[in-house]
Amino acid sequence: MSWKTVCAMADVEDNAIKLLNVDGISVLVARVGEQYAAYPPVCPHMEEPLEESGLCAKGKLTCTKHLWQWDMITGEAEPGPAEKPLLMYEVRTEDGQVIVNLEKELEYDFDDDDDDDDDY
Ligand code: FES
Repeated sequence: MSWKTVCAMADVEDNAIKLLNVDGISVLVARVGEQYAAYPPVCPHMEEPLEESGLCAKGKLTCTKHLWQWDMITGEAEPGPAEKPLLMYEVRTEDGQVIVNLEKELEYDFDDDDDDDDDY
């Protein structure tokens, strides 16, 4: 898999996210004005489903569980409790369509905070 047309640009409301399943890969597509972004549909903090816990406003995505917040288009963490950015798929728009590079499924490593030292 590589670049895939995932939806029409008009399918995603402004300042909103939309959950899509593209050939078995779940992707959240975000829109702010005429800018689009795509990322895995889970919070990088504790794996909450962002389509349920995510709140979009003024170009910011907030996970309502512990209030981590990101820029919806760059995925950068906003000042505050967020400690990790969002993983981002490459996105382009063409002829009214949103096209996402799904060559490699992006997943967070939720084991990287394991500090029980049992791998020494
Ligand atoms: S699970 Fe999303 S901020 Fe904690």
